[in-house]
Amino acid sequence: MNISYNHGFDFSSKSTKEFAWSINQLIKNGEEDIAIELLEIGILYYHQTSRMCYLFGKAYGKKDKAKAVEYLNRSLSTKPNFRPALLELSKHDPSVYTSLIRVAHLLRKSMKFDISKDFYNKAMSVQLKNNMPTCAYFIKSHLELNGLKTFFEIGTFVGYNVLQIEAQKSFAIDKELRIPSWENNIDPTVSFYNMTSNLFFKDHNSEIATCGIDACLIDGARDYENQLKDVQNCLKYVNDNFLMVIPNCLPSNTAAALASLQEAQQHASFTGEWFGEAYKTLLWLSVNYQDLEITIIKENGGTALIQKGINNIPCTLSENEIKSFNFNELAFNRYFRPLTMVEYLTKKS
Ligand SMILES: C[S@@+](CC[C@H](N)C(=O)[O-])C[C@H]1O[C@@H](n2cnc3c(N)ncnc32)[C@H](O)[C@@H]1O
Repeated sequence: MNISYNHGFDFSSKSTKEFAWSINQLIKNGEEDIAIELLEIGILYYHQTSRMCYLFGKAYGKKDKAKAVEYLNRSLSTKPNFRPALLELSKHDPSVYTSLIRVAHLLRKSMKFDISKDFYNKAMSVQLKNNMPTCAYFIKSHLELNGLKTFFEIGTFVGYNVLQIEAQKSFAIDKELRIPSWENNIDPTVSFYNMTSNLFFKDHNSEIATCGIDACLIDGARDYENQLKDVQNCLKYVNDNFLMVIPNCLPSNTAAALASLQEAQQHASFTGEWFGEAYKTLLWLSVNYQDLEITIIKENGGTALIQKGINNIPCTLSENEIKSFNFNELAFNRYFRPLTMVEYLTKKS
């Protein structure tokens, strides 16, 4: 059967764009088999590999997931930021959310704010739909489930969390803010503070004093002394039903558990990873707050979720013992019982 004849498609005189339009129409009408047959002929005429592989991936979407993923990955291997292929692949492979964030960031860098926003939203919805154990997931879920408003982040960096979470009101603090265009911000829902967290709490705290903090991410300084200050300062402003998230709580080895990157790099066990001393901050919280529940999620290097609740296994270490605590799982797990994401979700449901 001559598909091209039957469908009146004249390959030799039509552009790739026109061909792609016809394929999209066929897929839209549920005629994927015909789309695939047309594509098989189309590859003889059109050579835009990334677009052709994307169209194949889309056509195979409902019929053969493995094939769809293979084609979409092939499309992205020739053009890594090809937006249609990334969006299509995110339907099958949630791990692609990191690429969606990367593209969102690049779009924002080129001042394409609206499309950038769409990609940040898409990245967030993929994480929410698939219960992915990311900081953004925990914070967004908390705000949405409880109808809460304010998100406060120390260590905003390029803004991945603030821009994905899109809280009703966000506070972005970093001593070296790298969110594209933050200087020309006209968005009233985000307040940027390009300064150390210490300076913020000392001289610029009036906004959070008014609305309080519903969710916060402590991701700035990673040494015990400074991170603890950040946590203590945040706790002064949190609203009743707050969530505090601290990443990097389960260092992978001795070097990764040291106070500074320089110290880690000089240690024999350094593998390129550096987590810092968040585990000491958690020990301190456990000693000092019987009314805080600390849950640690094992994936992604250990993310602590801190909320009002009951501290079931309070830590009894002295301040000096915490300061000199050498991270090892056995000793740490006397006070905490890290959960996998599956265990966490089961416990919550
Ligand atoms: C690991 S990055 C944060 C990554 C970001 N939260 C994310 O998820 O994409 C750490 C950031 O903390 C900032 N930082 C470190 N110490 C700080 C301090 N004392 N006050 C404010 N920001 C700080 C650094 O400039 C850096 O951008």
